Amino acid sequence: MHNPIHHPLLQSLVNTLRETALSPLIFRHTIKEITKILLYESLKDMPLKSKTINTWHGEQKVGLIDESEIMVVSVLRAGLPMHDAVIETLSQSKSGFLGIKRDESTHQSHLYYDRVEDCSGKIVIMVDPMIATGGSLCDAIEVVKNKGAGRIISLNIIASPEGIQKVESRYGEVEIFIAQIDEGLDENKFIIPGLGDAGDRAYNTL
Ligand code: PRP
Repeated sequence: MHNPIHHPLLQSLVNTLRETALSPLIFRHTIKEITKILLYESLKDMPLKSKTINTWHGEQKVGLIDESEIMVVSVLRAGLPMHDAVIETLSQSKSGFLGIKRDESTHQSHLYYDRVEDCSGKIVIMVDPMIATGGSLCDAIEVVKNKGAGRIISLNIIASPEGIQKVESRYGEVEIFIAQIDEGLDENKFIIPGLGDAGDRAYNTL
């Protein structure tokens, strides 16, 4: 299930990323701003857990998100600024990291690093700016499902229609929150118009 979010602020921030002259610092910063909006949308139905705390006028019961139930999993490298944005907000959540790289000639994704703990019953928030063919996200979902993930939320900035379709046909239960769906893929399986290589742009690599 995917949830495109229609909001002028979000649209403007995504379009800001399309400017190639953006410095890596502003590119990462803008990604983080977008991620906070996606996170806000994705948690709008999150139940609050009652907890007694000491307030300025004594003990009070308040409702809090149980962050110990949340694990944030990013796909290297481009997911890292998004990861930072989520754990700035949910500072008690756990983290996991997956290295997944697309082969430049076959366009097949390949998992080369897995640092995700058992996530039995947890709400897993996956972050990666781009869904192109959808292969990387499918690989990442498979890893967290095999480690017991309960609810799976995916925060993504841009996607191709075919990439979204692939992920949804395999993993209909995953809740995808997406800022912008672009036109499609070119012959090299890059999103058009897209952002270019988000990992390279975020970290000034080629
Ligand atoms: C990009 C992007 C996604 C993936 C999307 O990463 O961040 O992880 O491609 O493509 P897909 O949907 O066709 O699998 P890339 O493989 O370029 O790795 P990088 O971030 O290390 O550059």
